[in-house]
Amino acid sequence: MSDALKIGFSAPAAPVKGVLVLFCESGLKLGAAAKKALAPAGDLLTRAAAADRFTGKSGSAIDIVAPAGLKVSRLIVIGTGKSDSKPEDIVKLGGQAIGRVPSSATDITVLAEWADGSMKPDQAADIALGMTLRAYSFKRYKTKLKEGEEEAKTRKVTIGVSDPEKTRRAWMAREAIAGGVVMARDLVNEPANILYPEEFARRAATLKKVGVGIEILDERAMTKLGMRALLGVGQGSDHDSRMVIMRWNGGKKGEAPVAFIGKGVCFDTGGISIKPAGSMEDMKGDMGGAACVVGLMHALASRKAKVNVIGVIGIVENMPDGKAQRPGDIVTSMSGQTIEIINTDAEGRLVLADVLWYTAKRFKPKFMIDLATLTGAIIVSLGHEYAGLFSNDDKLAERLSKAGQATGEKVWRMPLGPEYDKQIDSKFADVKNTGGRMGGAITAAQFLQRFVDKTPWAHLDVAGTAMGSPQTDINKSWGSGYGVRLLNELVAEYCEG
Ligand code: BES
Ligand code: MN
Ligand code: ZN
Repeated sequence: MSDALKIGFSAPAAPVKGVLVLFCESGLKLGAAAKKALAPAGDLLTRAAAADRFTGKSGSAIDIVAPAGLKVSRLIVIGTGKSDSKPEDIVKLGGQAIGRVPSSATDITVLAEWADGSMKPDQAADIALGMTLRAYSFKRYKTKLKEGEEEAKTRKVTIGVSDPEKTRRAWMAREAIAGGVVMARDLVNEPANILYPEEFARRAATLKKVGVGIEILDERAMTKLGMRALLGVGQGSDHDSRMVIMRWNGGKKGEAPVAFIGKGVCFDTGGISIKPAGSMEDMKGDMGGAACVVGLMHALASRKAKVNVIGVIGIVENMPDGKAQRPGDIVTSMSGQTIEIINTDAEGRLVLADVLWYTAKRFKPKFMIDLATLTGAIIVSLGHEYAGLFSNDDKLAERLSKAGQATGEKVWRMPLGPEYDKQIDSKFADVKNTGGRMGGAITAAQFLQRFVDKTPWAHLDVAGTAMGSPQTDINKSWGSGYGVRLLNELVAEYCEG
């Protein structure tokens, strides 16, 4: 991985080389360590700030090269507005800070303090989280450097804070979370010629090294289980389908698990109902739900979350071929319900139908949450800022909304209800896989609901947020890793202990 940061913590001290990053509140208010570090430079910051109309407002920054009187090569002052911001905003500050540092800088010192004192350990660790998420980039397939660009080196970041030991401990959990986000982003960014279902399963299996139990089911095993809905999607591909079951037992022995399920369509051509060529390359990201589940399992296991968790992903490739499934075909799902295929491009729900049913029956989880890049319609409804949330359980929906606000990975609840059933009732089978032009994200969710039985369940349609979503202070990558921090927060707040 290029652009990796090596994060360390120490007591705040003025550096004698590299880049110095300070935080500054409105009214140009600095903390004690910052004042001390700037003392040899006299009124440098006051004059520079006046010249640049910098006052410390949130979102603003000032950047001074070779600051007179200081030994560092660069001084960066990040405006915070007020002190004691929300965790989400502090994570963003970290992103803004590293975003200002030239990528060639390898020695970076950050004084993590507010005007009235050092940041708390959790806050300084949030700065480190934001820096790590922002610094990510996917350059695996770049073989040439741009003019002026240098070979990526490891960049050392030292965060000065009053309690380095406690901050280091607070960072350990966040490092696990950042690692999960990075894993999810890497999977989404990876092209489909490299990341086909078997390879995806192999990458999920690397979670063994953080203590996650792995089971991989091949087509034979899934045929035995009667997963004709999932297998039908993959039957036009030269790549065999897989299902991966991941297990982390950090909770009480015998306690029912919580379960996370992901749509893993490594590439979605649409199948026989083939998609138009424009932007079809984006469909390498149609496994964003599964990528999130893998990243989440990494995060939970790496920070040794005190909870029993199951992750289950259905991994297929949706291709047109002589063996491909046709519109009009009728398949029998593992649940016994028959499905009429109207459009082979509505494949995600077919995969999830079997994975949801399997998870509900085998694990009897306390709740299950699926993530899927399921519909273009959710992008029409909510754009790229919110994921669509559908649930048969108000408490679960409420908790997801709160976790969304806390992390900035936001969800917006959408309706479900018997009113929508007539759109997916089929002439020939129990249900059909499309519901017409209107309310496409809702009829897709309504379809899924038929395969969850009575399990408390939530569905997140992440088509607008898992990839190609807006560039933010903490994400410059196409694959965003959306959902890892959201669901980690849900588990931490409501499932552990
Ligand atoms: N993977 C797509 C949905 C999608 C679209 C994800 C754009 C990300 C960006 C899904 O399998 C799909 O093709 N859905 C169809 C459903 C329709 C045929 C009922 C859609 O949204 O058009
Ligand atoms: Mn599709
Ligand atoms: Zn799809």
